[in-house]
Amino acid sequence: MNASLRPALLLLLGLAWLAPGSCGPACGLQIPPHDQVARVARFVAHQCDWASMATISSHRPVEGQPFSNVFSVNPQASLSMSLAQTDYCRQQGFDPQSPLCAHIILSGSVLEVNGTEADFAKKALFSRHPEMIDWPTDHNWFFAKFNISQVWVLDYFGGIKTVTPDEYFQAPPHRKHH
Ligand SMILES: *[C@@H]1O[C@H](CO)[C@@H](O)[C@H](O)[C@H]1NC(C)=O
Ligand SMILES: *[C@@H]1O[C@H](CO)[C@@H](O)[C@H](O)[C@H]1NC(C)=O
Repeated sequence: MNASLRPALLLLLGLAWLAPGSCGPACGLQIPPHDQVARVARFVAHQCDWASMATISSHRPVEGQPFSNVFSVNPQASLSMSLAQTDYCRQQGFDPQSPLCAHIILSGSVLEVNGTEADFAKKALFSRHPEMIDWPTDHNWFFAKFNISQVWVLDYFGGIKTVTPDEYFQAPPHRKHH
């Protein structure tokens, strides 16, 4: 098994699961108002095609230490996505660490899926990452979803805000066009 490729796919799968949609980073970005925190969170997740994932390592010699990749599947993880991954922050002149360069952190656990859930995950993933359809199957890839327990949002001054999973999933992932 290729241990370095497997985590990458797992990570992207999680993303695809969270943010299926049709309007990619090429769309002119119009971020939702900062007081609509759940909408901002969905928006950021929808715009980003990849994320950085941190887990607690269960491998020597870094056992018990934070590790920003998925090596073993220690299911507790945190996933972060930022509009710095799009052109938005550069165009607006926002430093990636500025709260105005909206970013989110999802806390939760990684759960392997199968059956219809895996079919859905595959469709969502390949719609964003078509090249993966042809990746060799002998790397023990698996499809997973991210079971979100809390969403953290940094999109404005005044500190980090939280959104519950219910609020997150109820918010539309992109701007409604009327
Ligand atoms: C599908 O996943 C569930 C929960 O993870 C598990 O209990 C079940 O055995 C799996 N089924 C197959 C066919 O792998
Ligand atoms: C999903 O996460 C919630 C906490 O937010 C937890 O209570 C639940 O057990 C998790 N589900 C699974 C299948 O691990």
